[in-house]
Amino acid sequence: MSDQVVVHQQEEEWRGVAAEEIQEISHSTGLRLQARSRRLLGSLLRPHVGRTSLAIGAVIGGNLANLAGPLLIAAAIDRGIPAALDGGASILVWCVVGYALCAGLTTFLRWAFLRISGRVGQDLLLDLRGRIFRHSQRLSVGFHESYTSGKVISRLTSDVDALQDLLEEGLDSLFNAALSVAGIAIILVYLDAPLALVVVAGFLPAYLIWRWFRRRSMEAYRGTRGAIAKIIVQFVESMNGIRAVQAFRRQPRNEQIMKGFNAQFRDANTDALGVMATFTATIRTIGNVSLAIVLAWGAYRVAGGSLELGVLTAFTVYLRRFYDPFDELAMFANAYSSATAALEKISGVLEEEPSVPEPSSPVALPHARGAIRFAEVEFQYPGTKRQVLPRFSLDVPAGQTVALVGATGAGKTTLAKLVSRFYDPSAGSVQLDGVDLRSVADTDLRRAVVMVTQENFLFSGSVADNIALGRPSATRAEIEAAAAEVGAHEFIAALPDGYDTDVRKRGGRLSAGQRQMVAFARAFLADPAVLVLDEATSSLDVPTERAVQAALETVLADRTAFIIAHRLSTVLIADRVLVLDGGIVVEDGSPEELIGERGRFAALHTAWRDSLA
Ligand SMILES: Nc1ncnc2c1ncn2[C@@H]1O[C@H](COP(=O)(O)OP(=O)(O)OP(=O)(O)O)[C@@H](O)[C@H]1O
Ligand SMILES: [Mg+2]
Repeated sequence: MSDQVVVHQQEEEWRGVAAEEIQEISHSTGLRLQARSRRLLGSLLRPHVGRTSLAIGAVIGGNLANLAGPLLIAAAIDRGIPAALDGGASILVWCVVGYALCAGLTTFLRWAFLRISGRVGQDLLLDLRGRIFRHSQRLSVGFHESYTSGKVISRLTSDVDALQDLLEEGLDSLFNAALSVAGIAIILVYLDAPLALVVVAGFLPAYLIWRWFRRRSMEAYRGTRGAIAKIIVQFVESMNGIRAVQAFRRQPRNEQIMKGFNAQFRDANTDALGVMATFTATIRTIGNVSLAIVLAWGAYRVAGGSLELGVLTAFTVYLRRFYDPFDELAMFANAYSSATAALEKISGVLEEEPSVPEPSSPVALPHARGAIRFAEVEFQYPGTKRQVLPRFSLDVPAGQTVALVGATGAGKTTLAKLVSRFYDPSAGSVQLDGVDLRSVADTDLRRAVVMVTQENFLFSGSVADNIALGRPSATRAEIEAAAAEVGAHEFIAALPDGYDTDVRKRGGRLSAGQRQMVAFARAFLADPAVLVLDEATSSLDVPTERAVQAALETVLADRTAFIIAHRLSTVLIADRVLVLDGGIVVEDGSPEELIGERGRFAALHTAWRDSLA
């Protein structure tokens, strides 16, 4: 596949991601998503119920203490000062001392709340990040082949950040705001019920605007979550494909795509902020109108003697405070919408079940012999309609080396993925020593079957670490022996630090052929009963490949192997060749037999011989 095709495919994929991330959400889907994210939030909070209650207690206490302040002012004005003027200062003193105590208590409880809630929040985020990572690792290869790494990254970063914002600031504002609104409402009624009625009348428009605000802000934040995910996806994939991007001068096109996503993110955020602005302005207006009415009517009643000045003063102070928290409530609602939208996406990943699940009652297979049987197997990739492998059966006795040959797209890798159980067949079963792979415990399966692909993924760490991945308990001598067996010892020993040389990110320090040799050594060290090599020698030069082949012949002698190779020299060491065409086995026999039959394999063989001449 050329790089140009790769770039083109990536673009298609991005568009697919884009569509999925911003799909229009119907009302019922929205509710279902919200329920799902609330479920997740509940399960995250459950282990911290004790400390959460403590934090709520602190915030309630702090607010009560804070609320008592103006009441004490009213008492000081209406009772303390007149009494002091008459010579008795004790009431005034009590009011002042009480006020100071309340202020101190408010500060202390606020500190306690921030400390406790901060801790709970961080523990919860730790738990969530761990869960996302664990679960993503557990999900099958099939999931990752369709859900791009960029999307997983955005779940783990920006979506978790949204929840962090809610926990750090949102909850604080919610408790403060809700408690002061409720507390003040009670005090207002207590101070003067008729005046309080004016305030209550303002509730109706306030409630209506609140409803509007909640709905719009949820929509807006779903937009921002989708847009930021697209930005991250675009960024990650562009950087992963940086060689293709630069080789084909794709920068301008990528910039254009990025610009579009970036603008979407800005628009979604602007929308959210606009909604917030309208909401706060409306609430302020409602507050100011109520205040004006209360002042006018209150002053009239003070003049008439039916209301005390101190009460009116306290009332107006409370009334101002009453509408201030609505800003905070709006802030909370924003953080909540953003976090809910994020949790909708996170819970989507967390509720995803591995399509290749671990068996619940596994059959123990600690020493597999390596007989592989395909029984009435059919396969199509999940979510697609085309049958890549039409129904077939195949018996590979233990110890046989099978070469899979066929044109690009014939289904060779797909068949290999079934042997390694990266996918389960759509119908029928793949069996190891007569046991359905679906029933083999994961540890037994991974010990018995090892697949080496062209990818040859190396992890950050030393060369020795990367070989030891095949068998973590291996000693240094065993590691070096495995490397020597595949002919990798010389080049590794020549590296600056030998086996301790850091391979750098993804093995960037090694050449493609060297990475293949390390991957080979890793597979040989693992010593599996079944070895699957998918174009594992394609990057080697001819002399190195010869060396590896010589090693292959000894290594493959006593184990089952599936070899996919375009070079016939590699294929010729097989006991049996399967020629695939459109997912169907069209030829099956030993290399010698097939060459004699003058079929496809014979034609390939002739072409190969001619090319050597
Ligand atoms: N993850 C996937 N999802 C959907 N279709 C896929 C997926 N992987 C492969 N296919 C399709 O399955 C068919 C067989 O692909 P496969 O990778 O098995 O071919 P192959 O014989 O290994 O080819 P090559 O020699 O190029 O590696 C192809 O038509 C391909 O488009
Ligand atoms: Mg392939």
